[in-house]
Amino acid sequence: MTAWYEESFGKEYLSLYAHRDLAEACANISAIHALLALSKDEPLLDLACGAGRCLVALRRAGFHRLVGLDLSADLLQAAAEALTDEGVAEAPIVTPGAHDLPEPAPQRVVLVQADMRRIPYRDYFATILSIFTSFGYFEADDENEAVLRSAYDALRPGGVFLMDYLSRDWVIDNLVPEDERRQPGRHVHNRRRLSPDGRRVEKVTTVTPDGGEAHQFRESVRLYSESDMRRLLAAAGFRSVAAYGSLSGDCCTPQSSRLVLVAHKEPCP
Ligand SMILES: C[S@@+](CC[C@H](N)C(=O)[O-])C[C@H]1O[C@@H](n2cnc3c(N)ncnc32)[C@H](O)[C@@H]1O
Repeated sequence: MTAWYEESFGKEYLSLYAHRDLAEACANISAIHALLALSKDEPLLDLACGAGRCLVALRRAGFHRLVGLDLSADLLQAAAEALTDEGVAEAPIVTPGAHDLPEPAPQRVVLVQADMRRIPYRDYFATILSIFTSFGYFEADDENEAVLRSAYDALRPGGVFLMDYLSRDWVIDNLVPEDERRQPGRHVHNRRRLSPDGRRVEKVTTVTPDGGEAHQFRESVRLYSESDMRRLLAAAGFRSVAAYGSLSGDCCTPQSSRLVLVAHKEPCP
């Protein structure tokens, strides 16, 4: 059976999440840079980059050694187009094994089609960003932990990993079981629930085009708490893990809607 994350991130994902746009990405990148004072001259990986809105925002902010990695061919194609529209001369989509991985450069943003459990770099990036709940997708905990191990291995010593993840308690307390909306030419219905064991949040979106047949998109994300994440990051090798309630560095409280984790590969600053 095809995993949900292999079929739910096609072209239609972009129209369902149209509010997750470039303006939001620019605000996020500006907040992250204020929080971490990242080097703009060192390689940075946008892990699970999707259609590239954060890569475009990073370029606009002056970062110029950028790599994006994602599994979705459709979203990587959209990322390449967005970067080209932004004036980037080259945005090659490369598959590890089939291609040599080109160096990122001011006029070249490298887009890697790969699984986040197997990032094809070692001791390379100064920074890895994982934005907008791109973690917890796999059924088995060990597979989710493999993402953290892979990010750790891909960072150079002293590198930083920032993960913008959901807040488990906020999701549980604010779960809207059902909603629907009309969009031009279609009806969109969302159903959300906790899995019977309470470990995941699951969402089924049913899109019914006017006069057409309904089709569904699934999402299922593991709900790790802050202490779970601290434990998993430490087990992957990370040190000096900090947790925030937003990308602006607000304190993590029970009311925080996000959990932002910042972890370093030794030597820590
Ligand atoms: C919620 S979206 C976030 C996209 C992007 N970070 C953003 O903020 O717009 C999650 C992304 O994870 C990607 N993804 C899902 N499973 C993946 C996997 N196993 N390996 C790499 N990327 C994956 C999807 O294709 C999608 O682009």
